[in-house]
Amino acid sequence: MFADGLMAGEKILVTGGGTGLGKSMATAFSALGAEVVIWGRRGAVLTEAAGDIAATTGGKVTAMAVDIRNGGAIDEAMESIFESGPLTGLVNNAAGNFISPSEDLSPNAFNAIASIVAAGTFNTTIAAGKRWIAGGLRGNILSIVTTWVWTGGPFTVPSAMSKAGVAVMTQSLAQEWGPKGIRANAIAPGPFPTKGAWERLMPAPLAAKTGAGTGAAGIPMGRMGEHQELDNLAVFLMAPGCAYLTGAVIALDGGQWLASNGNFHSLSALDRGDWDMIKGAIQSTNAK
Ligand code: HXC
Repeated sequence: MFADGLMAGEKILVTGGGTGLGKSMATAFSALGAEVVIWGRRGAVLTEAAGDIAATTGGKVTAMAVDIRNGGAIDEAMESIFESGPLTGLVNNAAGNFISPSEDLSPNAFNAIASIVAAGTFNTTIAAGKRWIAGGLRGNILSIVTTWVWTGGPFTVPSAMSKAGVAVMTQSLAQEWGPKGIRANAIAPGPFPTKGAWERLMPAPLAAKTGAGTGAAGIPMGRMGEHQELDNLAVFLMAPGCAYLTGAVIALDGGQWLASNGNFHSLSALDRGDWDMIKGAIQSTNAK
């Protein structure tokens, strides 16, 4: 889909880059010539991921164990990245989430999510942004949110609140930092199954009881997303040729969130005979 070497000269940090969608996006940037830095909490997982990515792409990949719940660690790690040459892009991908009735959540449970998704994303973004601004450098921020930023997220309220905050951060910084040559966009993925997310959002007992997470019901495109499809949009947004696009929050969900909000999406299950019957029923009410 993209020209070889499209991302040459770019240096991109992907938080949560050791697994799942973060690793997939990091691999895509690297395959197109970018230097990549990946952050995550678990050093061994990151080192293995960096080795996998480099073996696949032949690119330069640096793994750094950084917990973005720790603001001090973020700034220190960002400083060491810039010492070897500035970043050109940041992908805020790291997240934490689990399903639970909201009334069961303790303050600590809220913080377990918000300290990663809201505070961690903000602090990482500021650590990069202030260095771009001080150096008069261009910069490019992509944050991974969810479509719950528009619909709300029952049973995932701390995540939905935090992701909504990240979407608003994106819109705010696009305006505040645009004049300084820094862009900010977000992707709101729908269902892109990964081990980390699915174990917490679609645990086996839930899937067994309701079928949740196992099918494509409610998705107009009739299937879940493929990682490469997310990678493609991430590359497009991070590529130099996309320099006029900022402040956007783009759903990438096969149409799922539009179809789940009080409209007649479920009628796509009807066949011709059903429609003939319905038409008759409606017309029989005319002029009565
Ligand atoms: C209720 C729970 C709970 C649960 C934890 N807690 N799990 N409460 N139901 N299932 C409470 C605990 O009781 C505790 O509160 C507090 O939360 C902190 O618990 P810890 O076990 O100490 O949590 P911690 O080690 O901080 O880990 C939390 C986490 C973890 C970071 C969220 O799940 C994790 O490591 N996740 C990996 C990343 C991840 O989740 N990725 C998927 C993101 S998916 P008390 O009061 O008892 O001390 C995503 C996509 C969304 O964001 C969109 C999809 C469409």
